[in-house]
Amino acid sequence: MKIVVAGTGYVGLVTGACLSHLGHNVTCVDIDENKIELMKKGISPIYEPGLEELLKEGYEQGRLSFTLDYKEAYKNADVIFIGVGTPEKEDGSANLDYVFIVAEQIAESVEKDCLVVIKSTVPIGTNDEIEEFIKEKSTHKVSVEVASNPEFLAQGTAVKDTLSASRIVIGVESKKAEKTLRDIYERFNQPLVITNRRSAEMIKYASNDFLALKISFINEIANLCEIVGANVEDVSKGMSFDSRIGDKFLKAGIGYGGSCFPKDTKALHWLAEDNGYELKTVKATIEVNENQKFRLVKKARKRFKRLRGLRIAVLGLTFKPGTDDLREAPSIPNVKVLINEGAEVVAYDPIGVNNFKKLFPQGVHYVDNPESALKDADLAFIFTEWNEIKSIPLTRYKALMKQAVIFDGRNCYDVKEAAEIGVEYHSVGRQAILPDFFGGDAK
Ligand code: UDX
Repeated sequence: MKIVVAGTGYVGLVTGACLSHLGHNVTCVDIDENKIELMKKGISPIYEPGLEELLKEGYEQGRLSFTLDYKEAYKNADVIFIGVGTPEKEDGSANLDYVFIVAEQIAESVEKDCLVVIKSTVPIGTNDEIEEFIKEKSTHKVSVEVASNPEFLAQGTAVKDTLSASRIVIGVESKKAEKTLRDIYERFNQPLVITNRRSAEMIKYASNDFLALKISFINEIANLCEIVGANVEDVSKGMSFDSRIGDKFLKAGIGYGGSCFPKDTKALHWLAEDNGYELKTVKATIEVNENQKFRLVKKARKRFKRLRGLRIAVLGLTFKPGTDDLREAPSIPNVKVLINEGAEVVAYDPIGVNNFKKLFPQGVHYVDNPESALKDADLAFIFTEWNEIKSIPLTRYKALMKQAVIFDGRNCYDVKEAAEIGVEYHSVGRQAILPDFFGGDAK
């Protein structure tokens, strides 16, 4: 079977590499010449553990190839996966431009019957639309069917998530399409959920929005814990023993970011509204997350009266550890606030600095180790729980900073230990115990 994957971002490239790893012949198509050249050399254009090994393996064993020439790639394809981005539009709806561009290229190129599989996260009904669109635009007399096969991988664990996925969702309208996808996925040996296209599209949004809802829920509980004197970590733990609740995605912090939750919550909310229905839980999820991002900076402002002139260490820039991705990272709006308020920002991230520099070429002093960021700082923010950051002993903050005051958006440290060491430590959903010399307990 000749498989082609359109788009070599997180979804497309990981899909292509994993399909080839399991023995399929795969051609990856992209419009970016630099990316294609890199991949031909076995270099991954994105940071993703294990991916480069799979790229090299597939390329060397002749099962994985990369090309700019979509016409040639699509011409005789049996199956074409679409894994291009569906970013957010101004109004929160999903921008389907890239999906339609690929669909048009497929329509003008395919010379035999084929199955187009949409992996990109697309609003409910898009698969139907794309099938119609390809039918209308087809240059040759061929039959092209569309199937939905949403992707559930998380960044930083994308290869692992794909090779041992919790489930594979297949949305089809014919037995033929079902059989093709069953054949492809048989060797993954994972549970298959076979449904129609619209349900498959909805499964993706509902899954992401539910996870985002869990995070916003626990963040609200955390905020209330701070007011009423409870500890959110104990609360999460206590809840998690109930298997109906589970122990995942109940980590309170500075809010979710990334390429999926922010855009998928807004897109589903928009889609519901467009259909005359208000998704109240998703709306609340979005609102809570927007406010959560600024919880710590508000606390810092209260503590210091003003941030102007303060030297502020920013530890962690990416939206989560294990990735160089900055999309919707809480660090971005926070650093903007700090700069606007006249603070001197010194930032450290083990992987994300180069990408952050593109967003903030000026106004931030970048350093390549956390100790340099902490040196003589008046306060420190922790925005990402990288191991390189979590493993800094609290005693180092005490030794290096002008005054050891931490605002931790990821609850990396023990509150009691911080107080014992003499660090003023503010976190999320836990009472700050201020060290004696700061004058006792305070929120
Ligand atoms: C997510 C989904 O997990 C994945 O299934 C989907 O395909 C794409 O979106 P990803 O965005 O890569 O994956 O990261 P994830 O690990 O889910 O984290 C998303 C955000 O939520 C991060 O900013 C993370 O810090 C935050 N988060 C996660 C919390 O604040 N608390 C938690 O308990 C879990």
